[in-house]
Order: sequence, then C-alpha cells, then structure tokens
Amino acid sequence: MRIFEQVESQVRSYVRAFPAVFSKAKGALLYDEQGTEYIDFFAGAGVLNYGHNNPVVNNALVKYIQEDGIIHGLDKATTAKKHFLEKLYYDILQPRNMEYKVQFTGPTGTNAVETALKLARMVKGRSNVIAFTNAFHGLTMGSIAVTGNAFYRDESFINRANVSFMPYDGYFGQEINTATYLRKFLSDQSSGIDLPSAIILETVQAEGGVNVASYDWLVEIEQICREFDILLIVDDIQVGNGRVGTFFSFEEAGISPDIITLSKSIGGGLPLSVVLVKPELDQWKPGEHTGTFRGNNLAFIAATELFSYWETDELAEIIKNKEKIIKERLNAIANTYKTFDCKVRGRGMIYGLDVSAKGIAAQVSKECFDRNLIIELSGAKDNVLKLLPPLVIEEDLLIKGLDIIEESIWTLTNNQNNNDGGMGIIDNS
Ligand SMILES: Cc1ncc(COP(=O)(O)O)c(C=O)c1O
Repeated sequence: MRIFEQVESQVRSYVRAFPAVFSKAKGALLYDEQGTEYIDFFAGAGVLNYGHNNPVVNNALVKYIQEDGIIHGLDKATTAKKHFLEKLYYDILQPRNMEYKVQFTGPTGTNAVETALKLARMVKGRSNVIAFTNAFHGLTMGSIAVTGNAFYRDESFINRANVSFMPYDGYFGQEINTATYLRKFLSDQSSGIDLPSAIILETVQAEGGVNVASYDWLVEIEQICREFDILLIVDDIQVGNGRVGTFFSFEEAGISPDIITLSKSIGGGLPLSVVLVKPELDQWKPGEHTGTFRGNNLAFIAATELFSYWETDELAEIIKNKEKIIKERLNAIANTYKTFDCKVRGRGMIYGLDVSAKGIAAQVSKECFDRNLIIELSGAKDNVLKLLPPLVIEEDLLIKGLDIIEESIWTLTNNQNNNDGGMGIIDNS
C-alpha cells in the first residue's frame, strides 16, 4: 500500500476503509493481489448494480473495440449513441408512458445534477432551489449547495447560496408531515423562503443514511410543485437503475418528475450521465451547455445491453425476493443485538442498519472487512451501515454477507460485554 500513501492525495477515502489492492472482480466478488476473495456489498457506491464485469457487457465491449468502434464523439451522432437512444426510448421510456428529451452531460453524477439545476433555474427564471435535510447530490459547487452534510459544505467553498433546505420525510419522526410544513412556508408570503425554480430530492437518501420517503410524501411534494409552479427534479443517480426494484425509483409512487438525473449504474461500470427532461422544458440554445465528455460511447454499448434486463419482470421479482432476505435478516439482527439499538430502513436492495451509538458502524464495517465483506457507511455521522450489493448477487453470497454482518456485530457485542465485566447485555429473546 506504500505507493498510495506516498503519492496519492490525502483526499483518498475508500482505500482507508478497505485497505487492499484489488486486481480482479466478477459479479459480486472482488479479489485482491493475493487472490483473497471479498463479497461486495458496496457495488461501487451504486455503479455496479449489474455486477462487476457483467459478461453481457464485456462481450459487447470487446467486440466493439475490436471492430474499431468510435470511442470519443463529443455529442456527434454515433452508431453506439443511436442504439442507446433507441433502446432507452422504446424499451424504458415508452412502456412507462414517459415522454422525455435526453440530455447527455459530463460523465459523473454531479455533472447531471449541475445541468438539472441550471436548466430549472433558466426555465423558471428563479434562482432559489429547495433541497432536503440529509440530501447528497454531489460535490461540485452547485451540487454542494443542495447537499446537506456540513462535512462537505466548508465556508471556503463559497457557493452554497440560492438554496433553501426543508425537512425530508420523517426528519422529525413519523408524526410530523414535513410536506405540510413545506406547503406552509411556500404559502406564506412572509416566510422568507423565495419561490424556488425547483425542488430536488432523492426518493431514498442513500448517502444521507438510507432515509426512505413514503410514496404519500412523494405524491404530496409533487402536488406542491404543481400548485406553486415549481419543477420537480428527482435525483435517481444512486437509487435509480433498478436499485429499489423498478427501473426508476419513483415508479411505484406514481409521480412524474419534470427532470430526472441518472448516472452510476446506467453505464454498467463506465462513466455516463443522463438528464431526462420533459419536452417543454428543453429550452437550451444549441451548444449552450456543453462538455467534452458528453456521452461515452463505450458506456453506450454497456448501457444498451443492460437495458435488456428490464424487458421482462424477472429482475424486479428477483429484487423483491432478495429484499425479503435482507430485511428479515437485518430485523432479526436488530432484535437480537439490542445493545446497539439498531434501526432498519430500506427499499428494494438498498438497506441501512442504523447503529446510533457513536463509531460503532465504522467498527462493524471494519470487522466485516476483516472477514472479507466490503460494506460502506452513510448518514450524517457515518452511523449507518449501507447494504448495496449488486442486484445480480447470488443468493448464497447475499446470505454469506449477511452472516458476516451478524458475526461482526456479535464480536463487537461480546467485546463490549467483556469490557462491561460480562453484564450479559445480549438479548436473545
Ligand atoms: C443521489 C446522488 N446524486 C449525485 C451523486 C454524485 O455523483 P458523482 O459522485 O458521480 O458526482 C451521488 C453520489 O453518490 C448520489 O448518490
């Protein structure tokens, strides 16, 4: 690991939590240079929903490269882009009755978010945007401004203005409806909240601690948008692409966002970001918002193949079954190891085990890594273990990973018991 410590910037992060040099990966497994196998409950922070080196993608990429397919094209028309647009339009959008224009942005998630915010402000001619507590939308200037966590919002980063934060669903507990609260602020001419161009939200806040918005809340937020002439932006960068069991995360809520951001898994591991825009909002002048890496032809090849997963309901069914396994097991863990007062939250195949006691989630993640499971943290205080396995993980690996989480928590509980002089704080009832 010396070269990384010696040469790479201090800013590196995951290499600290998972100190191994990884050299190979397949499906839901990663291998380090010594050949040690790790189960991946991290999936590249949501990039690898379809697994590492998905054979369908790899075969198509190898063929494309061997045939000298276009690699870089700015926003020129290419065969790879044509096939991508056809498949996205006919196989994903049309069957869902979704009429959207497709805008290609720079390749990372934050590029899509910046684009969505810029367009919403331009169309409505208003600078303010409403974002929610615990939101995470990326770390360039406009995206930081709509990201909640103080860790990312250093005063010296300047631009955190023109955004009003409102409480996300459940922020004050289930008794207080935060949509009603938001409506009150918007209705009151003297509330101090400027009428925004857009409200931006994640249907499940992944980085924010796996906070799940109810469908009722999402519907109410959409109603508020319509009532007050505000655009609704759904940031589906982490929980779109099938993560919650449907291609778009908001499908079951039945809402119709004005703007949708997609990134991470859409390129099957290769960088690609897309903004979907209701046709009447597509008011750009040609070339008004550009970027050298708009559209990544290799990612188009990968994405076009991966859309096929949604031609039938098979993957959605598989996700439902795996969700059941994850949810039941996490609830059982929370009920067994009461010392840590764990809470379970999630939807589809993103689940969080909220271990409120300070620093414990990080210790669990470390114990897991020592047992060859990769699992990351989220939440305001890194207090939530975030389960994000590839959607295509084999069931036995999923169960093995859950076993490792339980073993790790068992070990920490026992350590704590020993430190407490064996007070018997495990409640196995
Ligand atoms: C919901 C959401 N939006 C935006 C981003 C930013 O994406 P990127 O890191 O590719 O810029 C992330 C990254 O985790 C995310 O989860």
